[in-house]
Amino acid sequence: MSGDTPEAASFAASGPLRGVIRVPGDKSIAHRALICAALASGTSRVRGLPRGDDVARTRAALGALGVYFDADRIVGGRERLREPDRPIDLGNSGSAVRLLAGVCATLPFRCVLDGDASVRRRPMDRVLAPLRAMGAAIEGADDGAHAPLTVHGGRLTGIDYTLPVPSAQVKGSILFAGLDADGETVVREAVPTRRHSEELLSRCGAAMEVDDGAAGYAVRLRRSALVPFEVDVPGDPSQAAFIVVAATLVAGSEVRIEHVYTGPGRCGFVDALRRMGASIEVVPRDATTGDLIVRHAPLTATTIAGGEIPSLIDELPVLAVAAAFAEGVTTIRGAAELRVKESDRIVTMAAELAALGVEIEELPDGLVIRGGCAPQGTVHSHGDHRVAMALAVAGLGPSGAVRIEGFAASAVTWPGFIDDLRSLACR
Ligand code: S3P
Repeated sequence: MSGDTPEAASFAASGPLRGVIRVPGDKSIAHRALICAALASGTSRVRGLPRGDDVARTRAALGALGVYFDADRIVGGRERLREPDRPIDLGNSGSAVRLLAGVCATLPFRCVLDGDASVRRRPMDRVLAPLRAMGAAIEGADDGAHAPLTVHGGRLTGIDYTLPVPSAQVKGSILFAGLDADGETVVREAVPTRRHSEELLSRCGAAMEVDDGAAGYAVRLRRSALVPFEVDVPGDPSQAAFIVVAATLVAGSEVRIEHVYTGPGRCGFVDALRRMGASIEVVPRDATTGDLIVRHAPLTATTIAGGEIPSLIDELPVLAVAAAFAEGVTTIRGAAELRVKESDRIVTMAAELAALGVEIEELPDGLVIRGGCAPQGTVHSHGDHRVAMALAVAGLGPSGAVRIEGFAASAVTWPGFIDDLRSLACR
C-alpha cells in the first residue's frame, strides 16, 4: 500500500498482515461520552477519543455551548451552557446532529445545527417527529426533513415512543431530551440497536431502567441531573472490521486487535464473517470489551438479512468486499438504511465494486455479490469514509490493485488508516 497524495491512495496485494494493533476509539461511544460529560455538573474524564473529524466536531460544538476541555478533562453542567454565537457546523457527522438535537431541545436558548452536503441530505425527520411530540420547537430545511435544524429549547414532556426505524441515534436523541423532560420518557425497540446511550447514561447516574424481557426492549428514563464520570473509550468494532476482513483475505495473516468494544449491537459482522468461514477469536477483557484474533481463512458466500442488519449496518461496505472474494453468491437484504448513510452505500458500493470487475447487483434494500474475483482498477470514495476504507481492503486481497480517488474522506474517522495498516504489513 502507498500513501500517494492525501486525496488518493493505492492499495495492492501485500505480504501477510501480522502483529498487534489498536484501532481508533469507538465513535458512537465517544459522541455520547462527550455529551454526557457536557451535561454532568463537574469534571469528567474521557480517555481514548478517536482523532477523526466527526468526534472533533462534537467536541467543538460542546465547546461553543460553554463546556470546558483540558486534554481528557471535561468540565460540564447545564448551568455552564449558553447560546452559541453562530450556527454549529457538525461536518460529516449525522450522529452528532441527531444526538445534539435532543440535547439542544432542553436548553433555554436557540441553536442551529448544520453539517456538510452529505449531512444535509440525511433524514432528520426521524428525530424531529419524536422531539416535537415531546414539545420541542424545532425546524428543519425542506419542511423538517433535513439539516440545518433550528432548535428553540424549552420545556419538554416525556413520551412513550416505539422506534419506527431501528436507529440508535434516534433512541439517543430522545433519551438526551428526556433527561430534562417532565414525566417519564420511554423508548421501545422492535429490533435491537446499539446500547451506548443507555450504557453511558447509567454510568453518570441517570434515573433509568431497561426492560429486556418477553415484552420487548424498552428504556425508561426520568428527569436526571448527571454526575461526573470517567471512561476509557474502547476500540471501535466498525474500524476493527476493516482489519478483520483484510487479515482474513491475505494469506498467512494473523492479527490481534486489542481492546475492542464487544457489547450488544455491534459485533454482528463477526457472526456473519464466521458463517463465511472466517477465523475470528474473541478474547474477553470484561463484559463489553475484548481482543479479536483473526487469521487468514478462505471464505464462502452467505446471506445477511433481517434482525442482524442493525448490528452490522456500518460494516456492510467491507462485508461486501469480503463477499467479492468468497466462493459463491452473497445476498444482503433488509438494509435499505444503507441508502441514507454518508453516501447511498448501495449505489456507491455497487458502482465501485463493479468498476473493479466484481459481478454485483443492486437491490432496493441490499446487494447480490458474486465472489471469486481479483479486483483491479481506479475507484472513488464518494466522500464516504467507510466506502474509502472498504475499497482499500479490496486492493489488499489476492491479486488486488486498487487506486482510490478521494481517499482523504477516511480521515473523518481514521486519519492514520494507511500508517496503521502499514504497521501490520510484513515485507
Ligand atoms: C450510530 C448508529 C447507526 C450507525 C451510525 C452510528 C450511533 O446509525 O450507522 O454510524 O452512534 O448511534 P442509525 O442510528 O441511523 O441506525
